Amino acid sequence: MADRPISSLNKPDITLETSLRPAAFSDFTGQPKVKDRLEIAVEAALKRKEPLDHILLSGPPGLGKTTLANILANAMGATVKATSGPTIEKAADLAGLLTNLSEGDVLFIDEIHRLQKTIEEYLYPAMEDFRLDIIIDQGPNARSVRLTLPRFTLIGATTRSGLLSSPMLTRFGIRERLDYYSAVQLQGILLRGARLLKVETDADGAMEIARRSRGTPRIAGNLLRRVRDYAQVRGDGRIDAAVADKALSILEIDADGLDEMDKRLLEAVMVKFAGGPVGVNSLAVAVGEEPDTIEEVYEPYLIMEGYLNRTPQGRICTEKAYKKLGLTLNRAGQSRLL
Ligand SMILES: Nc1ncnc2c1ncn2[C@@H]1O[C@H](COP(=O)(O)OP(=O)(O)OP(=O)(O)O)[C@@H](O)[C@H]1O
Ligand SMILES: [Mg+2]
Repeated sequence: MADRPISSLNKPDITLETSLRPAAFSDFTGQPKVKDRLEIAVEAALKRKEPLDHILLSGPPGLGKTTLANILANAMGATVKATSGPTIEKAADLAGLLTNLSEGDVLFIDEIHRLQKTIEEYLYPAMEDFRLDIIIDQGPNARSVRLTLPRFTLIGATTRSGLLSSPMLTRFGIRERLDYYSAVQLQGILLRGARLLKVETDADGAMEIARRSRGTPRIAGNLLRRVRDYAQVRGDGRIDAAVADKALSILEIDADGLDEMDKRLLEAVMVKFAGGPVGVNSLAVAVGEEPDTIEEVYEPYLIMEGYLNRTPQGRICTEKAYKKLGLTLNRAGQSRLL
């Protein structure tokens, strides 16, 4: 099976994530507008001595949704009960979760776009009126029981807010979308991470890693550990720009942060589909990756960086992508080397 560095680098690593995950707004770098709005919401709720409104956090993997959910709960002094969309299989699972909440608790539902429709419908009155109508028994004995729930805060996280139904979306009083981080913001996150991991890192070293982290704190954290390994084995343990560059080249992460899979994707659009437009399913088959992963993980960054465009007909490669791979499109619509 082919190497998939970025998808593996954007997988949560439990030990790393708990050690590097900021616990308070003051340690959370970047997303200034989102942070500002959430801090105001927290302060207002605390002043009114009320639980927070329900909050939906969306955005690509590894940008800090789970982190923010925890920060929000900490700031409210609330307990978090965490679950995820696909693990709630039956209405009874949801009822169990909801009835175990206390006033002010945060219920965190990760991957909320993967909740079943029927479960979603049970959730509406729970979110709106803090009540749950469940049907017990079957056949002629079936009856509906109404449970009153404590006032809780639902924090939903999703990489695909477009897949949420509109009744679900509108029940979140606060909806925030996280964006990719700038290199300077990631540099700050990396320097903090390096301090926590006790690895001496200079500003240029952190910047080199930051520029190659696809705007994603999780990737930055994972790359930092890989670079630290390299520095300890092949160097004196310190990270500077040269060490970072060498280590990242070994990982085949190029100067723009693109990895093998990104390049395979772009190359497939250019060579196999004459530059596009091509639908995500055909593209997925061509590179041997899941369509969802392409849409959630790879494509958003390639689009943001201007390598790929998304049109109603499908994906097209831009001039920048051709330059990047050193290819050109000939009159017959075939890509060839420049
Ligand atoms: N703003 C930030 N400042 C510092 N570190 C951050 C920030 N955002 C994220 N991180 C780091 O990146 C890691 C990944 O973030 P998090 O788990 O919150 O992402 P996520 O958006 O929930 O991703 P997923 O969609 O995969 O669940 C965190 O453990 C934390 O170490
Ligand atoms: Mg998460």
